Amino acid sequence: MEFKNKIVVITGAGSGIGAECARLFARRGATVVLSDIDMKNADSVAQKCNSYSEGNVAIKTDVTKYAEVEALISESVARFGKIDVMVNNAGVMNKLRAKTADHSFEDWENVIAINQTGLFHCMRACLRIMDTQGYGNIVNMASLAGLKASGYNLAYSASKFAVVGMTKSAAIEYGSKNIRINAVCPSYTQTPMLDTAVLAQPGMDEKLLKYVPMGRFGTVSEIAEAVTWLASDKTAFMTGQTITLDGGLSL
Ligand SMILES: NC(=O)c1ccc[n+]([C@@H]2O[C@H](COP(=O)([O-])OP(=O)(O)OC[C@H]3O[C@@H](n4cnc5c(N)ncnc54)[C@H](O)[C@@H]3O)[C@@H](O)[C@H]2O)c1
Repeated sequence: MEFKNKIVVITGAGSGIGAECARLFARRGATVVLSDIDMKNADSVAQKCNSYSEGNVAIKTDVTKYAEVEALISESVARFGKIDVMVNNAGVMNKLRAKTADHSFEDWENVIAINQTGLFHCMRACLRIMDTQGYGNIVNMASLAGLKASGYNLAYSASKFAVVGMTKSAAIEYGSKNIRINAVCPSYTQTPMLDTAVLAQPGMDEKLLKYVPMGRFGTVSEIAEAVTWLASDKTAFMTGQTITLDGGLSL
């Protein structure tokens, strides 16, 4: 019960990695605020979490809208009195894989609004509370695409490099305030996002797996374990860092 009496806010908690993070934090005793733009999924994950710990709630939030993010944070504090951990996980892939000259502006705007500006809104709103509390822990969901070039993926790559930069930059500012900020950089992980954005193309799974030394995609539970580790006291002297979980792909 490592996270007993801890309040954990997770964005994009209705699906994939975010949903597994919510279940794992709840299994370890935390009360989780599950935020997502899709309430149906978030509600059903919250119900599952309630079989592990008490008080878990789903709150509808579009991370691209600052007012909604601010409402998520203030409602969490009004209900529970504090926020111990915030996992900024909501994110989307490019709709189309294309060379930079063929990249649609619409796709650019959508990916940047959710992955980059959305995460900025979330860090900004929750850091105001954590600064006042005098403690806090933020785990940002970046990607291997935020550390290494990937190609045909410009907006996504730009947004995830930005997440790594925002993580490091904010970690400098808040280190002395007892607030740690780290990021997780997974590569291909079996989730609905991977299924629709990448694996829907015939033959793509074999093509990608050729480059992964471990010969498989990651699982949501492997990523969630790293998130809870960063959020725990086991990493008490770690801030501004990225953890890569990629089965060796970056090698
Ligand atoms: N799956 C992978 O291979 C992989 C690899 C590296 C990084 N990531 C990152 O992990 C995170 C989660 O991805 P996933 O694979 O679990 O995807 P997913 O599609 O399964 O889940 C993403 C969740 O984000 C929510 N969301 C989308 N737009 C939102 C918005 N505007 N406001 C609030 N919520 C919104 C969706 O409703 C969904 O529940 C993303 O940031 C993604 O970039 C995923």
